[in-house]
Amino acid sequence: MATFTNTPRVPIPANGVDYRGKVVLAPMVRSGELPSRLIALRYGADLVWGPETIDRALAGAVRRVNPRNGTIEFTRMPSNSGRAEKATQESVIYRLDPVREKGKLIFQIGTATPEIAVAAAKLVAGDVAGIDVNSGCPKPFSTSGGMGAALLRTPDKLVAILEALVKEVGTPFQIGISVKIRILSEPEATKALVSRLVKTGITGLTVHCRTTPMRPRERAIRDQLRMVASICRDAGVACVMNGDVTSKDEALALMQEFGVDGAMIATAAEANPSCFQTEAEGGLLPWKEVVHEYLKFCLEAENRFGNSKYLLNILVPGKLPEGKTAKSARSYADTCHALGFEDLMPAALRVDEILNLTDKSVTTKDLQTEAVRSKAVQNAMENNETARAASGASRVKSTSPVATAGGPIRTNSIPAPTKSKPQETVSEVDVSIPAPEATPQKQELAA
Ligand SMILES: Cc1cc2nc3c(=O)[nH]c(=O)nc-3n(C[C@H](O)[C@H](O)[C@H](O)COP(=O)(O)O)c2cc1C
Repeated sequence: MATFTNTPRVPIPANGVDYRGKVVLAPMVRSGELPSRLIALRYGADLVWGPETIDRALAGAVRRVNPRNGTIEFTRMPSNSGRAEKATQESVIYRLDPVREKGKLIFQIGTATPEIAVAAAKLVAGDVAGIDVNSGCPKPFSTSGGMGAALLRTPDKLVAILEALVKEVGTPFQIGISVKIRILSEPEATKALVSRLVKTGITGLTVHCRTTPMRPRERAIRDQLRMVASICRDAGVACVMNGDVTSKDEALALMQEFGVDGAMIATAAEANPSCFQTEAEGGLLPWKEVVHEYLKFCLEAENRFGNSKYLLNILVPGKLPEGKTAKSARSYADTCHALGFEDLMPAALRVDEILNLTDKSVTTKDLQTEAVRSKAVQNAMENNETARAASGASRVKSTSPVATAGGPIRTNSIPAPTKSKPQETVSEVDVSIPAPEATPQKQELAA
């Protein structure tokens, strides 16, 4: 970290956050949803960037508080593509935790138009510590609309977006506005660009040390880093480095070496978020411990299962048998069962119900089948006992394969795989879980 005195500093707004001295989670589409951010914070990330959200996708979203877990959700009704028969279900565009992410969440916006950027940013500005403009995404879906890395080629537009956000969102909401760029192939061009950006009123600038055409696997280039850091420092803007930073310890050393204020980690955190723990704090943890923690956050957040599964595919080593089974899971219950996380099963069954996954869940079907079978066996036994008692016959030991398979006859209505009390599990699903439609949720419009 740079420790220079007497250098100017762009003031940090009252509800904003200073990026100096911070090791942070990078914005990652798909991999940066709420559970990933919570686990990164849990292991020691100082700040978390949310996944890039396109301004047009956010515009028109409704803000509401999820009454079950207190998270704030921005939702929209997707178009039904003109098919009247197609049932529309509102989709959660962005979800955040107002308690655990308070003062630590930076919302990243994808935009190419100042007015739309401002309109969208205003929707979330009261719930986040900063708004960051993505000016580095090289993917065609971003660049073809003039967003992401395309903004590096249209600096006037990028400057206009940042100035509009500073004036119309940063100042009234008292949060910081920042930008994430890539280096340009010519250092002089990077210098000219950064020199303009730091005068827009932004509080922070992240530099991904790769050029736009570079592939993620190519080593980051750090030749221009000191120069970028120096321009930022002279302007009082915090400079965060990004590219091939793999752990907190390494981040702190690189910050010192290159005179930058902060460091951002993406793929290393995607593979194992415990990279935010220093060696002194325990360092990198085994995958199973991390996955258990991650699943807990997924369940708490009621995270979309497809998204959780996407990240589980990265976190769980696929070569292991439990990894293979987890990958074919269709529900949280399936996943917990495959990984042996029986302690999470009650929550998994509950969230499956909320997310309408119960019908797809192999584990739940097995549990129900077992429950029905168990009940039938119990009935049969009771009938036999009654018949025997009526006829005065003596009691005989059952040899039924159904009754004896796998050990003693179970008296509970729901047997393994969960070790928790099965009866409680059932009632938790049946009674205490309101279906989302059945629970009118408080609709709170954003300021
Ligand atoms: C899955 C994934 C999604 C990403 N999504 C975004 C994004 O939404 N916005 C952004 O600015 N960069 C995005 N990036 C780029 C990262 O934030 C980061 O700049 C890049 O991966 C380099 O950091 P690393 O070397 O630590 O991986 C993404 C990267 C990955 C791997």
